[in-house]
Amino acid sequence: MTKQNDSTHEEDMTLTNRQGHPVTNNQNLRTVGNRGPATLENYDFLEKLSHFDRERIPERVVHARGAGAHGYFETYGAVGDEPISTYTRAKVFQDKGKQTPVFVRFSTVIHGGHSPETLRDPRGFAVKFYTEDGNWDLVGNNLKIFFIRDAIKFPDMIHAFKPDPITNIQSVERFFDFCASSPETFHMVTLVYSPWGIPANYRMMQGSGVNTYKWVNSEGKAVLVKYHWEPLQGIKNLTQKEAEEIQKDNFNHATQDLYDAIEREEYPEWELYVQIMEDGPHPELDFDPLDDTKLWPNDQFSWHLVGKMVLNKNPEDYFAEVEQATFGTGVLVDGLDFSDDKMLQGRTFSYSDTQRHRVGANYLQLPINAPKKHVATNQSGGQMMYKRDLAPGQNPHVNYEPSMLNGLKEATQSGKEHTPYVEGNLVRESIDRQNNTKQAGETYRNFEQWERDELLANLIRDLSACHVDIQNAMMALAEEADEEYGRLLKEGLHKAQNAASASKPLGNTEGNEAPQDAIDKGH
Ligand code: HEM
Repeated sequence: MTKQNDSTHEEDMTLTNRQGHPVTNNQNLRTVGNRGPATLENYDFLEKLSHFDRERIPERVVHARGAGAHGYFETYGAVGDEPISTYTRAKVFQDKGKQTPVFVRFSTVIHGGHSPETLRDPRGFAVKFYTEDGNWDLVGNNLKIFFIRDAIKFPDMIHAFKPDPITNIQSVERFFDFCASSPETFHMVTLVYSPWGIPANYRMMQGSGVNTYKWVNSEGKAVLVKYHWEPLQGIKNLTQKEAEEIQKDNFNHATQDLYDAIEREEYPEWELYVQIMEDGPHPELDFDPLDDTKLWPNDQFSWHLVGKMVLNKNPEDYFAEVEQATFGTGVLVDGLDFSDDKMLQGRTFSYSDTQRHRVGANYLQLPINAPKKHVATNQSGGQMMYKRDLAPGQNPHVNYEPSMLNGLKEATQSGKEHTPYVEGNLVRESIDRQNNTKQAGETYRNFEQWERDELLANLIRDLSACHVDIQNAMMALAEEADEEYGRLLKEGLHKAQNAASASKPLGNTEGNEAPQDAIDKGH
């Protein structure tokens, strides 16, 4: 830190309160005599304390722990040999070499605001593109799939993964109770319990939009797309032991790694790929393209390189930029669209809803969230509003539309609108083609040996603490996914149970331990 003594800055450096009044004594309360009671008209003191009392806003209900950085995205302008405009008219992707400013926030998911960054958890990877058409948020994770495929299950899932409502202790039994009862989670559990559940840091992890979106071209024709970020720093994941070693000394290691690398001017970079699928239900596939528990196999749906992101500036203030940043899946620009992915649709309600509560009704006026382009709305009022979104030359008396008195006018459509046709009965039904375990088996077989070893050791350790019914349900899913996966999990759990009963005094049958024959009989 540098110390400035320049007397010309003396006035600028004078401590004031928020009303601009100079503070002449920041060490002593105003009291009756130097030992006496304090007085209530002590404005500086009251302002200081009452602001301090309000320094926290509600932390994010998920993804509370995070780190952020600024940078830019550069488009490569093409999909293979074709101009990218064949697929999307989004301006952010046109004109090879064009750069768009971005702000990125990485996070863990389940644990609170100051929790260790070494914990087993997916990682958030949220990118805000400040495009010439307004903001686009790509709110993704490091892993390419998710636990569930229907948004109505999200609050239950998060309740099960967060601490117990009575003890306030996180419990693997509650985690596996939900997962074993929701077999669509098995592919994600296989990834999270492998070393892919503890990325070494934020710079050396992938990112993915996870949900299925659409690209729309100037003819209004749409394709389905998935987005993936690949780190040019390489990918690195940790074993449980390596993570524990790091955590002993530093539980902020991922934030620190990102911050220090940018300060050293070693700017992390990711390339953006898209997978493209023709719009439609694709009955020929053994999965639904709108199911976010599934990968789109690379050999059928190639990865097309479309751009690069560089992070080259640290935040100047953590709270203003990282804590108050708001990302949402509803924040799309012309040429990008939603698919009917049920998770995406549910998420799109949830983000702006929580942000109006977490940050406030005017959260989009904060510099980190405001588009870096002209904004002109007829909205005003609400807590913390500090300006009207007036257009230059607009009649300020006209805060409605339509008007003949020089008010704001609707924009003209920049291309043909994408107007998908929808029909059907309104139902509450899960999708067909659930195929919950096939890809988990493929993922297991694609792991390297050390990754399979870690996966099994981690599962056996945590499942050993669970009720026998939960163990059996998880073993059945593993067996369905892959013969070896199921067999080794079963053997490992038997061994763990034997070791536990050997160390227990005779006659002690308390707790959730699974008797050997219950495991064998599968109930
Ligand atoms: C954050 C809801 C699924 C990635 C959040 C927040 C909510 C939420 C309420 C806090 C936002 C804030 O306070 O600003 C949901 C719901 C989901 C869902 C209802 C399912 C229906 C997912 C999935 C992904 C994801 C599938 C990954 C693709 C993220 C990320 C953040 C986040 C990265 C943190 C954004 C930031 O850094 O501020 N989610 N989420 N979420 N979610 Fe989700």
